[in-house]
Amino acid sequence: MSSPTKPGIECKSALSLTGIKPSGTPHVGNYLAAIQPALALASQMPGFYFIADYHALTTIRDARLLHRMKMEVAATWLAFGLDPRRTTLFVQSDVPEVCELSWILGCVTGLGLLNRAHAYKDAISRGREVNAGTFFYPVLMAADILLYGATLVPVGRDQKQHVEMTRDMALAFNHHFGETLVVPEPLIRDDVATIPGTDGRKMSKSHGNVIPLFESSGKLRKRIMRIVTDSTPMEQPKDPHSCAVFNLYRNFTSEEQAGEMEARYKAGGFGYGHAKQELFRVMDMFLAGPRERYRELMATPQVLEDILAEGAMRARKVARETIFRVREVTGLKKDLTSC
Ligand code: ADP
Ligand code: TRP
Repeated sequence: MSSPTKPGIECKSALSLTGIKPSGTPHVGNYLAAIQPALALASQMPGFYFIADYHALTTIRDARLLHRMKMEVAATWLAFGLDPRRTTLFVQSDVPEVCELSWILGCVTGLGLLNRAHAYKDAISRGREVNAGTFFYPVLMAADILLYGATLVPVGRDQKQHVEMTRDMALAFNHHFGETLVVPEPLIRDDVATIPGTDGRKMSKSHGNVIPLFESSGKLRKRIMRIVTDSTPMEQPKDPHSCAVFNLYRNFTSEEQAGEMEARYKAGGFGYGHAKQELFRVMDMFLAGPRERYRELMATPQVLEDILAEGAMRARKVARETIFRVREVTGLKKDLTSC
């Protein structure tokens, strides 16, 4: 229960928030699991959508590349219709208060919780050299979410654990210092929880199996033709649900069209080559408009920079209010303007 002195937390107003790392060109998995649901939410409530460049620093060591990829992620959001007057689009590191909050959250987070993080355990099990940033990644992500008082976080299934850890951190903080932080909910759409890549594994920049959103039609066709399928002969019936081609297809068509394709798989006499042609046709049609807008935006970086600067200003205002409250309840000096 919230304490009577902190009424704001009780009547938490809905706010959707999500982040995408600028660590590679945005791909179909990012779009279906994060961007599309986030844009749907943005038509119903305020949205804070950002480019997680501090997170990208766990792997990227090239300033120019990082800058270019930030622009790519920003242009992607806008190309799919984000309205920057309604929805706040910004770069994570333009609001450095997030680092302060992550330190404070780190102080109420047990090592046990961080040791259980899939991403970190994965990196260790693959024998990779793991930096402290990778270990601390979930705390920074929690700070991203809690700094803005987000109630809903649209993400793919791989991020579910991070949002659950965020809830644990918010509850721990509130337990020690009184109701201050809003406890968020993940929003994971079952139908797009894990989008397969061209090799059938989860599509991910780090697996090299992505279908980028804005390549030319020719390159898109080549990627689709390379999707790995099994060796069931053309005449035989096939299982659509274990096939990456069908799983992608159903996300770009109506239920009715997906049902028709499903029936063709099951009937036999329909080869994977046919399915790939169909997938290319619907994806290319769907992506043609956004691809054009994306190219225009990438050609006018100043437009992007201005939108991000305006977004940072709005985000920072909210961030400062949270940080002031957090400083106050923890016993840190609340207002630094006199320093
Ligand atoms: P990547 O895994 O390629 O590095 P990010 O970590 O930047 O992508 O992910 C940004 C968002 O896109 C997150 O919400 C993540 O859950 C989602 N996402 C990325 N790849 C997939 C996928 N293959 N299926 C479902 N969601 C995905
Ligand atoms: N960790 C997320 C990913 O790898 C990106 C991210 C950073 C994020 N901060 C966030 C997503 C806050 C949702 C909310 O995909």
